[in-house]
Amino acid sequence: MKENKYEFNYRVYESIDELPEDQQQLLKEARNVTEKAYAPYSNFQVGAVAKMENGEIVSGSNQENASFPVGLCAERVLLGTIANLFPRVPVEAMAVSYKSETQKSDHPISPCGMCRQALQEYESRVSHPMKLILGGMEGPVYVIDSATKLLPLAFTSEELR
Ligand code: THU
Repeated sequence: MKENKYEFNYRVYESIDELPEDQQQLLKEARNVTEKAYAPYSNFQVGAVAKMENGEIVSGSNQENASFPVGLCAERVLLGTIANLFPRVPVEAMAVSYKSETQKSDHPISPCGMCRQALQEYESRVSHPMKLILGGMEGPVYVIDSATKLLPLAFTSEELR
């Protein structure tokens, strides 16, 4: 028997002001895009914005439904939009922010398990890591160099050959 260890590094910035200018801009846009969310059931509005390798900026927000499982997270709405607008173009960075009617938006949220699976596969398809910039409307910001780091021991397309 041997024991394996999984760990990864990520950066914690005290506030958006400490980020490099281009990352600040992306996070600000993610904050703005929360306005586009359709989240009448959770009242938790999420915005996600991607900077593509070709320089384009693409956005997504969560879209809920009265039949709750039908709802989609901002990250997967964004990935679907990217795949249609700019097929096979790598994503350099994705910023995610949120606002809530019941809680302060003062810390980062990170993608749910289903979105981690989708983000991992997008990175793998385009053979390019996607930086994640995670922050609320205020407070600290996390920067993770590759979305795949969030999904250790992932189930991947390798198993389906
Ligand atoms: N949600 C996202 O859009 N992204 C996340 O990273 C976490 C959760 C959405 C799903 C649902 O519409 C609402 O937030 C509450 O879970």
